[in-house]
Amino acid sequence: MRQILVAGNWKLNGSRDSIEQLLSGIVAGAGAAANVQIAVCPPFVYIPQVAERLAGSPVAWGSQDISDQDSGAFTGEVSASMLNDFNCKYAIVGHSERRSLYAEDDAFTARKFAAARKGGLIPILCVGETLEEREQGVTESVVARQLDAVIELEGVAALNDAVIAYEPVWAIGTGKTATPQQAQDVHAFIRGKLAELNVGVADKVQILYGGSVKGANAAELFAMADIDGGLIGGASLDANEFLKICSAGA
Ligand code: PGA
Repeated sequence: MRQILVAGNWKLNGSRDSIEQLLSGIVAGAGAAANVQIAVCPPFVYIPQVAERLAGSPVAWGSQDISDQDSGAFTGEVSASMLNDFNCKYAIVGHSERRSLYAEDDAFTARKFAAARKGGLIPILCVGETLEEREQGVTESVVARQLDAVIELEGVAALNDAVIAYEPVWAIGTGKTATPQQAQDVHAFIRGKLAELNVGVADKVQILYGGSVKGANAAELFAMADIDGGLIGGASLDANEFLKICSAGA
């Protein structure tokens, strides 16, 4: 049985004070969803604050990005070993905003995925098509290409220690959620593709859905056979809303 994982991606939001408030709310309510894995991914600079606040709580934390390098002359980068120093469990890699706004391609994303694993972090590998790609009917080939870059570099077994997040770009931050069936279809495609290579990996890997998940639509999404939780943007910035989503997986 795969557990439900609900991970908050705070993106470029928060301050010391707002994060303290948000974490207090989340920690106070997390017990109500004891069988759900919960995580938050703050901006890098707030990771020490989050690590201190959440230590000993059931809520894990991770980064929104990670360097493909471990150390050296790479100005502005943050490595897996640095994230490990602050007990990060997860690292998001290949979020569509990194891919589209910062021109991170499949090969670069795969190297980040490899760096996260090598450093003992669980990569949350984001895949998903744009609206144009969906309308052209190429959703599956886009998602397959994004997965293949990682599988070619690291092998399919690497996904044993990873999470996949299917995030249709047209549903991110738009209020336009994929229907549970639209999401399920792509999740089943991903799991089927992995099963052709390794049934054990396909059975084990958590595949999250991301894109305008809210308290009001989480339960119907999480009820689908191949949806194992969510990667939550906007709604993860509000403790009550985030907790509603967590409870939907309980
Ligand atoms: P959203 O973002 O929930 O605000 O749509 C999801 C994401 O980008 O991970």
